[in-house]
Amino acid sequence: MTATTVRTNYEIKDPSLAPKGKQRIEWAGREMPVLRLIQERFAQEKPFAGLRLAACCHVTTETAHLAIALKLGGADAVLIASNPLSTQDDVAASLVVDYGIPVYAIKGEDAETYTRHVQKALDHRPNIIIDDGSDVVATLIQERQDQIQDIIGTTEETTTGIVRLKAMLRDSVLTFPAMNVNDADTKHFFDNRYGTGQSTLDGIIRATNVLLAGKNIVVAGYGWCGKGTALRARGLGANVIVTEIDSVRAIEAVMDGFRVMPMEEAAPLGDIFITVTGNKHVIRGEHFDVMKDGAMVCNSGHFDIEIDLKTLAAKSTEIKEVRNFTQEYKLNTGKSVVVLGEGRLINLAAAEGHPSAVMDMSFANQALACEYLVKNKGELEAGIHSIPKDVDEEIARLKLVAMGIKIDSLTAEQIEYINSWTSGT
Ligand code: ADE
Repeated sequence: MTATTVRTNYEIKDPSLAPKGKQRIEWAGREMPVLRLIQERFAQEKPFAGLRLAACCHVTTETAHLAIALKLGGADAVLIASNPLSTQDDVAASLVVDYGIPVYAIKGEDAETYTRHVQKALDHRPNIIIDDGSDVVATLIQERQDQIQDIIGTTEETTTGIVRLKAMLRDSVLTFPAMNVNDADTKHFFDNRYGTGQSTLDGIIRATNVLLAGKNIVVAGYGWCGKGTALRARGLGANVIVTEIDSVRAIEAVMDGFRVMPMEEAAPLGDIFITVTGNKHVIRGEHFDVMKDGAMVCNSGHFDIEIDLKTLAAKSTEIKEVRNFTQEYKLNTGKSVVVLGEGRLINLAAAEGHPSAVMDMSFANQALACEYLVKNKGELEAGIHSIPKDVDEEIARLKLVAMGIKIDSLTAEQIEYINSWTSGT
């Protein structure tokens, strides 16, 4: 921990950063009209009165609005970081100083501090957990079984976290309801695709300031995050290569106009590599060996396991910080590989994460998922639950209204037509 770190019933870098954080939180709020409506309703209805809530999220200007919504809704809420490098220290400061929300998050916190902060979330004895990657829920199940009786439910917003929750369910250890925020249409279509797409490229540009036009960019993984990343890389003039393990997604990438090949073939071609698979060691020793001198690698998947940095370090004679969030690994072959953001989420490490306009819908889902858990307390089975369709559709409707976009509605004749099977050719 650095000398300026402040530890009381919160742990943040520096409370004096609060004015800057407040200004930025307010700026983000301009692009979050749906969450604002929810904040206003929660302030009236207090759905979380008397409840303790722990949120493990990237501590950003957007998350601040979610935390404020929960507090206005009557929750006794704490916020911890869901990644050691994603915290915006000024936002953490403002949440503590201006909004009275305890935060445990410091940008660059080490693994021990990160783990301690997860424990702080559980020390709060939450009734509801908002998770981003499932670290709090996994720790609860592994280390705090006695607290499970207090849990009404959890919400999870990442693909990675949902994969973990499914594994918990298979192992019969998920004994309470979990709301699958990630799979809501108003979440993954926009956050995973356009959010990751824009913010990943933003992170690479802020870290390196390199021109992307004409570069060979290799995108590993063609899920929603990969689709958005490839789309935006092409928009900036890059030649995009996609790698996949799923045949259907590979065909999609081909028909979207990208070259598809195994990483083994892409490795010597790429200038910049971006991993968004959610899996381990997607870029590893054999790939580093054949990369161009100066090739850049980064990750926009949830955990820092996609690039095998241990092996890269073992092959290197020197690791040099060449810019913020940019480290050059000098290989014993004389070539070098440049790693951005220490292999952690580049969009949150070097940039500010997804823009507010998409997080508006993601966090509207989070807030309404928490309310749904409370309203249905004791009624929901243990396991993973979808966000109700009407909630998803209402978020989309409100977003369109806020964007000033009108759409058509079905005529009586059309409703009759789609509900009948008798009229064909
Ligand atoms: N995940 C990705 N971008 C984010 C943001 N801006 N705030 C919180 N979580 C995020």
